[in-house]
Amino acid sequence: MDELDRIVTAALAEFAAAADPAALENSKAGYLGKAGALTVLLKSLGKLPAADRPAAGAAINEAKVKLESALAARRDALADAKLERQLASEALDVSLPGRGRGIGGLHPITQTLERIETLFRSLGFEVADGPEIEDDFHNFTALNTPEDHPARSMHDTFYVEGGHVLRTHTSPIQVRYMETHAPPIKIIAPGRVYRVDSDATHSPMFHQVEGLWIGEDVSFADLKGVFTEFLRNFFERDDLEVRFRPSFFPFTEPSAEIDMSFGDGWLEIAGSGQVHPNVLKAVGIDPEKYQGFAFGMGPDRLTMLRYGVNDLRLFYENDLRFLRQFA
Ligand code: PHE
Repeated sequence: MDELDRIVTAALAEFAAAADPAALENSKAGYLGKAGALTVLLKSLGKLPAADRPAAGAAINEAKVKLESALAARRDALADAKLERQLASEALDVSLPGRGRGIGGLHPITQTLERIETLFRSLGFEVADGPEIEDDFHNFTALNTPEDHPARSMHDTFYVEGGHVLRTHTSPIQVRYMETHAPPIKIIAPGRVYRVDSDATHSPMFHQVEGLWIGEDVSFADLKGVFTEFLRNFFERDDLEVRFRPSFFPFTEPSAEIDMSFGDGWLEIAGSGQVHPNVLKAVGIDPEKYQGFAFGMGPDRLTMLRYGVNDLRLFYENDLRFLRQFA
């Protein structure tokens, strides 16, 4: 059976030389496939004299087993080699130092907002929220703000399509809250507000926290008590003086500017007043039965004062060298 030896030798050589699984399967077809050399040889057994057939058949089957096991071994070897290559290319150097993880921190204004919320919650206020794009009614009309009020001018307000505005204060949150809740109402309304304004102490987007307490006998004295208590807690100074200076807002009557002692002088810190009866009427609350106060302050300003920052814009540039100081 020279022919058989020749086929086996050639097949083994070809299997060994196959560089990848596809090449190996091709080689297999050439020997063990339907028209493969060994298959053809097996089929030709019939032409041999009957006496020679058993020995020849056994030899061919033996060769077939040999080739199949060589094939299996080569398949394994190729799979192993592939895995080796993959492991090498994805190797990790476990001795390298770690990359470390940046430690995050809350923005100083967020810290102030959280601080304000905590302090007012401790005085029994809830925190309310509302949309930043408002309609004319909630931002102006319901707040007793007449058509010719300067806040409605294009100089002050960002108008968006459909007669909507970017809210100029968080008072509309309170309007919405009063529309959907019956007194007693005791909330603060923190959030972003927008005005056409930009310099060292004004940003076109800034924050406000407004407060509202409506009940049957909530008076201006309550406003003084609550706000003074808040400021002293916020600045952690029991000797902090608070001054209420007469002022005007369309939505409060009487109205007052709230100043706090600062160095040798005073700093204006909030607007406030007793909620105007027209505002209560606009949201369906009976002003003969209910009354209360509202105030509005700028947490950005409070943050500047608390940390001694002199330019508001630093808070919005997001320079990490600045922000890290508050983390
Ligand atoms: N809404 C006022 C403003 O944005 C602030 C304010 C609120 C004043 C409540 C008085 C009472 O200017």
